[in-house]
Amino acid sequence: MSSIIQPKSSEQASLGSQEYFGEQWKVYQKVLNNNYMGHGEIYCILHELLVSYFQKPFKMLDLGCGDASFTAQVLLDTNIVSYQGVDLSIPALEIAKQNMAIIQCDTTFTQGNFSELVSQLVQGQQDRFDAILMSFALHHLHLEQKDCFIGQLKSLLASGGIFILIDIVRQEEEDRESYIRRYLEGIQKHWSLLTPQEYSMVENHMLSSDFPETQQTLQEISQKYNFTRFECLYCDPQDTTQLLCFY
Ligand SMILES: C[S@@+](CC[C@H](N)C(=O)[O-])C[C@H]1O[C@@H](n2cnc3c(N)ncnc32)[C@H](O)[C@@H]1O
Repeated sequence: MSSIIQPKSSEQASLGSQEYFGEQWKVYQKVLNNNYMGHGEIYCILHELLVSYFQKPFKMLDLGCGDASFTAQVLLDTNIVSYQGVDLSIPALEIAKQNMAIIQCDTTFTQGNFSELVSQLVQGQQDRFDAILMSFALHHLHLEQKDCFIGQLKSLLASGGIFILIDIVRQEEEDRESYIRRYLEGIQKHWSLLTPQEYSMVENHMLSSDFPETQQTLQEISQKYNFTRFECLYCDPQDTTQLLCFY
C-alpha cells in the first residue's frame, strides 16, 4: 500500500489541520453519517457518471479528499487505474488509505495545500488526469483564487477529461450572507441530531470559511478557460448544492 507523501513546505499546514481533524472532524462524520449534505444522492450520480463516461482505464486526482470514504465507494466497479488523494490533514489521509484499499488501482496520498500541489503539477508538466474531483473543498477559495485554480486544472486534464465539482452554490442574485443565512436555516430545520454546540461550530466554520459562487459565475470561468461543455448533473431540493461537470 502506498505511503503518504509530505512535501517539506506543507509541514506547517499539516499542524494547522490538526484542529480541523479534532472536533470539526467528529461533527463532519456525524453530518456524513446522517446524509445531511446529500452525499448519498450526489455520489450515486457520480458513480453513474464514472461508469458511463470512462469506459476505458482512467486516472483520478481527488483534491481535498478527506477520508475518501464516499470516493472509495463510487470507484467500485469502475475502470480506475490510478488515484491520487490530496489533503491538508495527515490523519484524514491515513483513513483515506484504508478506505481506498478496497479499490484495485495505484494509489498516492499527498499531504499538502491543494493550491500549491496543483501549481507544482502544472510546472512539472508530466501528470495528466482523466478526472479531477473536488468535493466540498473549492468554496474555501476566494473568487480570484477559484478562477486561477480552475484555469490550472484545465491544463492538468488529459484530452477528454472532466473536472467534477461537488460544492455549495449560491442562487443567482443571492449574496454570500443571504446564502449562508438560508443554509443555516435549513440546518436548524433538518440537521436535527446536531447539538447546539455542534451547530455553533458549523455556523462559525461557514461564516469564516465558506465562499460559494453562483452557477453562472462557475460557467463563465469554464468558458474563460475553454472547457467545451459545462453541465449540472445534480442540484439538491433546497437549491444549495450542485454536482457540476467541466468537460
Ligand atoms: C468538507 S471536507 C470534504 C471531504 C470530502 N471531499 C467530502 O466530500 O466529504 C473538506 C476537506 O478539504 C480539505 N482541505 C481544505 N482546504 C484544503 C487545502 N487548501 N488543501 C488541501 N486540502 C484542503 C480538508 O482538510 C477536508 O478534508
